[in-house]
Amino acid sequence: MSTPSGKHLAAIVPQKGGPLSIVERTTPTCGPKELLIEVHAIAFNPVDCYQRDMGIFIEEYPAVIGSDIAGIVVQTGSDISPSSPVPGTRVTALASSFYHKGSPDYGALQKYVLVSEDTVAVLPGSFSFVEGCVFPMAALTSWNGWLWAGIAREPIFPSEKRGVIVWGASSSMGALAVQSAKNMGYTVYATASQQHHEYIKTLGAARVFDYKAENVSSEILSAVKEDDITIRVAYHATGAQQVSADVISKLAEGSQGKLAIAPIVDQSLKVPENVESAFVQAPHDPEGRVERLSWIFGSWLQESLAAKRLVASPKIKVIEGGLESANKALDELKAGVSCTKLVIEI
Ligand SMILES: NC(=O)c1ccc[n+]([C@@H]2O[C@H](COP(=O)([O-])OP(=O)(O)OC[C@H]3O[C@@H](n4cnc5c(N)ncnc54)[C@H](OP(=O)(O)O)[C@@H]3O)[C@@H](O)[C@H]2O)c1
Repeated sequence: MSTPSGKHLAAIVPQKGGPLSIVERTTPTCGPKELLIEVHAIAFNPVDCYQRDMGIFIEEYPAVIGSDIAGIVVQTGSDISPSSPVPGTRVTALASSFYHKGSPDYGALQKYVLVSEDTVAVLPGSFSFVEGCVFPMAALTSWNGWLWAGIAREPIFPSEKRGVIVWGASSSMGALAVQSAKNMGYTVYATASQQHHEYIKTLGAARVFDYKAENVSSEILSAVKEDDITIRVAYHATGAQQVSADVISKLAEGSQGKLAIAPIVDQSLKVPENVESAFVQAPHDPEGRVERLSWIFGSWLQESLAAKRLVASPKIKVIEGGLESANKALDELKAGVSCTKLVIEI
């Protein structure tokens, strides 16, 4: 851990449409319930591309974007809880650029960033910073979906023979959805391209199906029947939403199915009568959101990392060059990745 010198380097979005440029910024100090983190690694998410290129969730410029970081706590606010990590602690954290509308002190793409105490988890020494930075957005997004769909915060007994489906399991959101559901005791069925099936099984999926196969729906239905598993919940990380909706409708026949959708919901999606669907998001009311995020980061993620119940997923690709390479990383993400999380080290 180094001591902030008052200035640090940041990749800013100078105007709508970018590109990012590197500038020196004044290092901020913490608000009462914030921590200042010295950033060591940053992972990229599709929303970062939308923010740089289209100005989504940005209210004024220059902005600093980015959400997923790992680093070291260097300063804590005056009113943080006694259980929050102290200076010197290695952490993974959500730098909530989109909640702060791009406000420069809160975006990930810089050496020092402010984060809320609700979005920090201690990162054990068994994880490198590069591995640790991939968790925040994926943990948040998985649990926003699972909790909406009625998955409890306590594990079930596998003997209950309940399962879930994760559509697009080789995506960043899908890979953690697989791990989180498996850890909660569910039998996980997943879809991904054929070449990633073995990898998705290492994350905990019982069976993986090729979403490109014409008969993918009937294959899933037969497998679930053969395994005698009850499935009422689907997590749609990415891919064809109508197929997901139709599959969970058939699996839940005679009862209510739930479809949690991580991407923007397709306007053309026809949700079957016995299925309830929702865009995955945190509660809007501030109290509910703080409670939810505190549990996801301060309890579930922190405990899961400490117990080594999670691995960094999907496969990590480090783009060399630090902050200077952030534009390159975003361009590569925009062009499309396959079972890959793009990361820079700074
Ligand atoms: N609601 C929220 O709060 C929230 C938060 C974060 C992300 N998101 C959204 O969630 C979505 C996923 O984000 P991400 O970062 O996880 O994406 P990602 O890692 O960039 O997704 C890439 C993966 O998508 C898979 N894929 C592409 N087409 C598919 C299809 N038709 N069926 C199944 N899989 C398919 C590819 O699988 P193969 O390589 O196996 O072909 C690839 O591995 C994005 O739309 C993102 O904007 C929402």
